[in-house]
Amino acid sequence: MARKRGIKRTCLVITMSLAVVFLLGVLVGWLIRPSHQLKNESFQPPNIRKEIVSEMKAENIREFLRDFTKSPHLAGTERNLLLAQKIQAQWQDFGLDKAELVHYDVLLSYPNETNPNYISIIDEHGKEIFNTSLSEPPPEGYENFTDIVPPYNAFSAKGEPEGNLVYVNYARTEDFFYLERNMSINCTGKIVIARYGKIFRGNKVKNAILAGAKGIILYSDPADYCAPGVKPYPDGWNLPGDAAQRGNVLNLNGAGDPLTPGYPAKDFMYRYKADEGVGLPSIPVHPIGYHDAKQILGLMGGPASPASWKGNLNVSYNIGPGFLGNASNRQVRMHVYTNNEVTRIYDVIGTIRGAVEPDRYIILGGHRDSWVFGGIDPTTGAAVLQEVARSFGAKLRQGWRPRRTIIFASWDAEEFGLLGSTEWAEENAKILQERGVAYINSDSSIEGNYTLRIDCTPLLYRLVYNVTKQIASPDDGFDGRSLYESWQKKDPSPQNKSLPRISKLGSGSDFEAYFQRLGIASGRARYTKNQKTDKYSNYPMYHTVYETFELVERFYDPSFKKQLAVAQVRAGLVYEIADATIIPFNTLDYAAELKNYADSISNLAKKHLGQMETYGVTFDHLYDAIDNFTSSAAGLHQRIKNIDRDDPMAVRILNDQLMFAERAFTDPLGLPGRPFYRHIIFAPSSHNKYAGESFPGIYDALFDIENKEDQGSAWDEVKRQIAIATFTVQAAAETLKEV
Ligand SMILES: *[C@@H]1O[C@H](CO)[C@@H](O)[C@H](O)[C@H]1NC(C)=O
Ligand SMILES: *[C@@H]1O[C@H](CO)[C@@H](O)[C@H](O)[C@H]1NC(C)=O
Ligand SMILES: *[C@@H]1O[C@H](CO)[C@@H](O)[C@H](O)[C@H]1NC(C)=O
Ligand SMILES: *[C@@H]1O[C@H](CO)[C@@H](O)[C@H](O)[C@H]1NC(C)=O
Ligand SMILES: *[C@@H]1O[C@H](CO)[C@@H](O)[C@H](O)[C@H]1NC(C)=O
Ligand SMILES: *[C@@H]1O[C@H](CO)[C@@H](O)[C@H](O)[C@H]1NC(C)=O
Ligand SMILES: *[C@@H]1O[C@H](CO)[C@@H](O)[C@H](O)[C@H]1NC(C)=O
Ligand SMILES: *[C@@H]1O[C@H](CO)[C@@H](O)[C@H](O)[C@H]1NC(C)=O
Ligand SMILES: *[C@@H]1O[C@H](CO)[C@@H](O)[C@H](O)[C@H]1NC(C)=O
Ligand SMILES: *[C@@H]1O[C@H](CO)[C@@H](O)[C@H](O)[C@H]1NC(C)=O
Ligand SMILES: *[C@@H]1O[C@H](CO)[C@@H](O)[C@H](O)[C@H]1NC(C)=O
Ligand SMILES: *[C@@H]1O[C@H](CO)[C@@H](O)[C@H](O)[C@H]1NC(C)=O
Ligand SMILES: [Zn+2]
Repeated sequence: MARKRGIKRTCLVITMSLAVVFLLGVLVGWLIRPSHQLKNESFQPPNIRKEIVSEMKAENIREFLRDFTKSPHLAGTERNLLLAQKIQAQWQDFGLDKAELVHYDVLLSYPNETNPNYISIIDEHGKEIFNTSLSEPPPEGYENFTDIVPPYNAFSAKGEPEGNLVYVNYARTEDFFYLERNMSINCTGKIVIARYGKIFRGNKVKNAILAGAKGIILYSDPADYCAPGVKPYPDGWNLPGDAAQRGNVLNLNGAGDPLTPGYPAKDFMYRYKADEGVGLPSIPVHPIGYHDAKQILGLMGGPASPASWKGNLNVSYNIGPGFLGNASNRQVRMHVYTNNEVTRIYDVIGTIRGAVEPDRYIILGGHRDSWVFGGIDPTTGAAVLQEVARSFGAKLRQGWRPRRTIIFASWDAEEFGLLGSTEWAEENAKILQERGVAYINSDSSIEGNYTLRIDCTPLLYRLVYNVTKQIASPDDGFDGRSLYESWQKKDPSPQNKSLPRISKLGSGSDFEAYFQRLGIASGRARYTKNQKTDKYSNYPMYHTVYETFELVERFYDPSFKKQLAVAQVRAGLVYEIADATIIPFNTLDYAAELKNYADSISNLAKKHLGQMETYGVTFDHLYDAIDNFTSSAAGLHQRIKNIDRDDPMAVRILNDQLMFAERAFTDPLGLPGRPFYRHIIFAPSSHNKYAGESFPGIYDALFDIENKEDQGSAWDEVKRQIAIATFTVQAAAETLKEV
């Protein structure tokens, strides 16, 4: 009995082994099949990228933009959930394999509906003799909406501070240095008024708090939000005097939901108490337009400001504190009653499963939520995302499937601190750090109509050049020429005039968690203004009620060809990264940039040559590590040239080295005081979240070092940061070497 059972068992084992071997064979055969022949054997693609790119139509982008901007889509509202469901249904309809809603409960911030925010000038009896306006007059055709949120700064503290005013220019670090060091003006206990522009508004608020201010008023000066010779909306694209820029004033440093930093805001998650939230400002903040600002600034007394602080209002731009002569007994009172509320938000996640490497992900993500109608921000990006998804869906229907998995994401609550994208990154961090190949952002596709603007990792430079060389330029005077050509002619790189400019990634949009925290190679593309001649900040109508479909159609992109070009760039990048046998990253360009960044940071340090000598500070080891990285990169690209592309294991080994190249630059401990900014080569600037800083740890250690009391410990910190950078670059070099 026992023996028989033994034989039976042996037979069973052999049969099962054979079956397993057979199934494995089928599986391997299936896995190494060329991806394009998966469902349609007869199909020999001439150039899939071209087909995807030419499937996209300007007219469709126009229709998506028209449809998605018909009503407000503030995060946390019913309308934005309905839009999420519409996008989900369309993605299913386009033929994506899956489209799902994912929700989080995050801290948002809304004005009190019955108790409006405003700012008053009060007389000596406390009587409010001037009040700023409570809302913007709606543009024609949008008069009947009851859910237009009035201008406010999300997450402002509540309060009614009163006091004398100080004009602080853009409220940059250097502006406060000037006030303290050159003018001996003390902002403690004052209310400050700053113009919008140059830097992220959250940095302005942080600087005002550090200076001791008890409130901050933000306004848009015509110098920064009106171009010369252009009329205010609706007759032109300049900012009207009664418009004001909304926007959050958090200092999250990449934390996502303020109450669940580092972890997804799911129902089981522990939440900090409301007053323990990350990045919440401790003082009231409120935005106003330049008509109201003129009434207030026109009264300013105190010393005159330097020429560079003067905007284009017909006022003195005196610094204060307080008002002039017969107005000197008047003060300012702020009224801010905005509430923070935990609110449900929804991301839409769509998937095209990869045919050969389904466990490798390329993400194309952009936000859906807007302050009001979202005419430019984000919907020129959301419309493009939709047309890209439709175009990939159309290829899928013909039997094509990419080699790797493509994930489309419509993020929620970007305007409240990149919350939807960061929560999803947190929930999926383990998977993403193992499987994330690239993240391409799809926020606003235009901020001007002049030329292309790219911010990306150096790994993507060559791919960006290649892709843009095969897209038609939408610019006047460039008929029959490529996007690359018009871009390179209009905005050449400062380092090499024969190449177009590419900028460093900072933050200010949803790629942040993917690049700065997780170390996934990232990039963004949009049409921009002429940086040389157009001095205004952002685009004038940014985050106002006047950001409408008509603004885009009349003034920015009547033919929708610029948005189409941006769609083609985004889709072209996604396609190539998803479908190329060898991931199209170039580590030699990273090596060259590391050298440039080392030159610029060491030149900064060399302004203090004496101190460098005294404290024994040297960049030699960093340069040595960069040399090592350069030779490892050269070796890697040599192996790529010689690789047997029919050997799936060899291909996978190289691809893993390419995929993990960006990851190798992250430090799990993060940058000093900024645990969620973990990339050692790039970070959002500590003084302006929008801008990218290279070797940020070293840069911050060197910043204003001459004014630090304890020079010994200040230069010790510089040495520590150089050592961390050296280690990180060397460790990255090791990952590129032949295994
Ligand atoms: C295969 O693809 C080609 C090109 O797209 C198409 O014309 C043909 O109808 C497809 N055949 C099948 C069986 O799907
Ligand atoms: C809004 O303001 C009103 C009037 O001051 C107040 O009664 C109400 O509690 C406030 N609402 C919230 C949610 O704070
Ligand atoms: C400002 O608003 C307050 C509160 O509504 C009101 O009492 C005051 O009269 C207003 N002042 C002016 C000049 O309208
Ligand atoms: C707004 O409502 C009024 C009154 O019902 C109506 O006459 C007007 O046409 C509406 N405007 C728009 C833009 O729908
Ligand atoms: C402020 O003072 C410093 C030190 O005296 C001086 O170097 C600098 O030029 C001054 N800045 C301005 C803008 O005047
Ligand atoms: C500014 O004023 C506050 C309070 O009035 C004081 O504590 C602080 O020391 C002053 N700062 C400077 C730099 O003088
Ligand atoms: C600027 O204001 C002054 C005094 O308020 C006035 O005399 C002058 O005409 C104004 N200039 C312009 C260009 O409006
Ligand atoms: C202050 O004085 C100026 C010039 O004398 C005058 O034009 C203005 O109306 C006065 N303002 C107030 C608030 O009384
Ligand atoms: C760019 O195009 C060149 C020429 O076709 C090709 O050799 C190279 O591999 C491409 N590089 C990338 C990153 O796409
Ligand atoms: C500038 O770029 C061109 C085109 O890629 C290249 O051939 C040339 O070597 C570069 N010049 C320098 C100085 O890097
Ligand atoms: C669009 O381009 C034209 C021609 O260069 C320019 O005059 C206009 O100001 C641009 N529009 C915007 C909104 O930048
Ligand atoms: C660079 O590589 C050389 C040779 O492998 C090694 O000796 C050196 O320590 C490396 N440099 C750094 C900074 O690790
Ligand atoms: Zn946006």
